[in-house]
Amino acid sequence: MLALLLVDAVVTYAVSLAYSNRVHDRDLADDAVTLATMLRTQSPHGDISSQARFLLEYDPDGRDYFSIRSSNRGLIAGSRHLPPAGKPALPGSPPRLYDVRLNHTPLRAARLAVLDPNNRHDILQITVAESLHSRHVVARQILLMSIPLQLGLIGALLALVWIGVRYGLRVIEPLTAKLARREHDLSPIDDHDVPVELLPLTRTIDALFARLREVLAQQERFIADAAHQLRTPLAGLRLQAERAARFAIDPRAVDALQHIERLTERAARASAQLLSLTRAQSRPRELQALDLGILLPAWVGQRVYDAIAQNIDLGLETTDEPAWLLGDTHGLEEALNNLIDNALRHTPSGGTVTVGLGADSPDWLSLRVDDSGPGVPDELLPRLGERFFRAPDAAEGGTGLGLAIVQRITDKHGGTLQFSRSTLGGLAVIMRLPRLHAGETTGTSVVTHANA
Ligand SMILES: Nc1ncnc2c1ncn2[C@@H]1O[C@H](COP(=O)(O)OP(=O)(O)OP(=O)(O)O)[C@@H](O)[C@H]1O
Ligand SMILES: [Mg+2]
Repeated sequence: MLALLLVDAVVTYAVSLAYSNRVHDRDLADDAVTLATMLRTQSPHGDISSQARFLLEYDPDGRDYFSIRSSNRGLIAGSRHLPPAGKPALPGSPPRLYDVRLNHTPLRAARLAVLDPNNRHDILQITVAESLHSRHVVARQILLMSIPLQLGLIGALLALVWIGVRYGLRVIEPLTAKLARREHDLSPIDDHDVPVELLPLTRTIDALFARLREVLAQQERFIADAAHQLRTPLAGLRLQAERAARFAIDPRAVDALQHIERLTERAARASAQLLSLTRAQSRPRELQALDLGILLPAWVGQRVYDAIAQNIDLGLETTDEPAWLLGDTHGLEEALNNLIDNALRHTPSGGTVTVGLGADSPDWLSLRVDDSGPGVPDELLPRLGERFFRAPDAAEGGTGLGLAIVQRITDKHGGTLQFSRSTLGGLAVIMRLPRLHAGETTGTSVVTHANA
């Protein structure tokens, strides 16, 4: 804008100077005509009156010049330095305007010829000239007047551009917020309220999402196939190791075969957990309204025999309040099973594991699993939930994927996962899930009973 202002200033100055020249030229020509009239009417002797001479010679700035030259007598009045440039003018023709230099100063001059009133054979050449100073002064004044106006215009234009850009960008804000709220959601963008100008962008993003979904689906299919391919040979391997151990005579061979059995079991678990993690990451959110208070007893009930087998007291503390949420039944059950697995694995015989459901906050439900095992050192708590992380003194048999699966499932529900020391002495895992309020269930199916 400043560069434009500069160009505009140059143009304004040139235009103002052109108009100023036109006006001054006319004045100069008028002066020449006035002087000629004065000569004709007021100077019977071919000279000008002293009053007129005073007026003509009155020039405090020294920028105006005049001369009257007779063809016969030479200079009659005025400046002798004013060069008689150019062809002499002819009597009766209009004043001729031309540029001339006097002592290196550029001047503009007007020349007019009249017949000497006293001697009809003599011609008087009347020249009036002025320096270009006043023309430049006028052009400069016009320029100075126009600059504040143009600065004001630039200010107004900038304000309009600013408002326009802000308004234009505000239209993008809801879309940005909608995308920012997503974590693992790759579903197409709902573009019914997206401005037409942005539709190409949302469609490009949708196409990218579609490709990503395809890549993830391929990855999931690959891991599922790999897990499936591993399951059968691993089951066979375990069976054969068991069989061989039964018939082995050397106790060292029995020990080795039992070791192979345990490792095979672990490999099978790892492939199953890997499959679960992949599913937890890429499965679309198919959430439905469900009441955890009703589902939880059935889920915990299924693990009672495992707890009894380990001589662990598995309990459930639930709430009378309705505990509705929008959730994925299979995902939540899988998450709880992983937490109970961990608690049972790390709690020594005779210990306690408690599953608790809290609905004390108006917006959040809390599902927690406490155990009386050794827990996890405080400095390692932040690392729980990382894939393949296992505490150095963890009980054998884990793959380090269980809590990562729980974390992904919690994320999909818009919840948070927190680890701390339990009042029972071991680890407390608290899963906070957004609560569903009455009236929010429209359009979703309602599950009120456990699948079991
Ligand atoms: N209840 C718990 N008590 C003590 N340590 C725990 C408990 N739960 C988890 N941990 C620690 O966190 C680590 C990660 O647990 P996570 O469930 O992710 O994996 P894992 O149990 O080792 O294997 P997986 O669950 O995949 O079979 C465990 O190896 C263990 O060190
Ligand atoms: Mg585990």
